[in-house]
Amino acid sequence: MTLLEAKGISMHFGGVKAIDYVDLTVDEGQIMGIIGPNGSGKTTFFNVLTGLYKPTSGRFLFGGTDITNWPPHRIAQAGIGRTFQNIRVFKNTSVLENVLVGEHTKLQATFLGALFRSPAQKKDEEIARKKAMELLDFVKLSDKFNEFSANLAYGEQRRLEIARALASQPKLLLLDEPTAGMNPSEADQVIQLFHKIHELGITIILIEHNMQVMMGTAERIIAFDAGVKIAEGTPKEIQYNERVIQAYLGEEE
Ligand SMILES: Nc1ncnc2c1ncn2[C@@H]1O[C@H](COP(=O)(O)OP(=O)(O)OP(=O)(O)O)[C@@H](O)[C@H]1O
Ligand SMILES: [Mg+2]
Repeated sequence: MTLLEAKGISMHFGGVKAIDYVDLTVDEGQIMGIIGPNGSGKTTFFNVLTGLYKPTSGRFLFGGTDITNWPPHRIAQAGIGRTFQNIRVFKNTSVLENVLVGEHTKLQATFLGALFRSPAQKKDEEIARKKAMELLDFVKLSDKFNEFSANLAYGEQRRLEIARALASQPKLLLLDEPTAGMNPSEADQVIQLFHKIHELGITIILIEHNMQVMMGTAERIIAFDAGVKIAEGTPKEIQYNERVIQAYLGEEE
């Protein structure tokens, strides 16, 4: 079943066509990869999909619902979670609190409720903490729940971001270069995490430069070049695709 459909999505910044008439479909339960040279529009695609920018043209259907031009918090509530290319953990906040922030999109907190916490709200908070601890366990960070996030190693901060994104209980998780800058053992841990997330039935779109990571993870890959979708196929097909090879060769010149 189709979970996400992008129809003719464009995102132009003045004269820059960051995304130009992109059509794509992601099936429920799939791990879809997006590759492309620097500046080819990968991150911009996530930014328009999550409502940070309004597309110049086109529509997004999520589970059959048109979510185009919805504000970011509504898109998150609808079930699209993400991580960012540059780490965005709250550094002077504990690891556990970072995950609780992610759960917040699902919590029904009110201003008055925060001032006068009722027993029911205290119960909600307890449940939220318990869930956050489970997520930390899932990403293998539960022993660090009380640490300042700034004290975590780089790879651990990346896993914390994934835990936070999972806390909003997404149906679709967007990961923007989650293994960038990692050493091989840190990257391995994250790859294992992709598979565990997949086993939970969560659909994943993964932007990744490391072709080895992609080969071991994605079922289908879409390649972008200069804002245009130039190829789509299995990792093997993409690896030997002439246009993809040309796009990357052009980058090295
Ligand atoms: N807010 C913005 N304003 C103007 N131009 C932008 C904006 N965001 C992105 N762009 C431009 O859109 C193009 C695509 O950028 P984008 O960040 O999506 O590329 P990318 O494929 O994610 O690259 P990388 O692999 O380096 O992360 C670039 O030319 C970039 O400068
Ligand atoms: Mg990017």
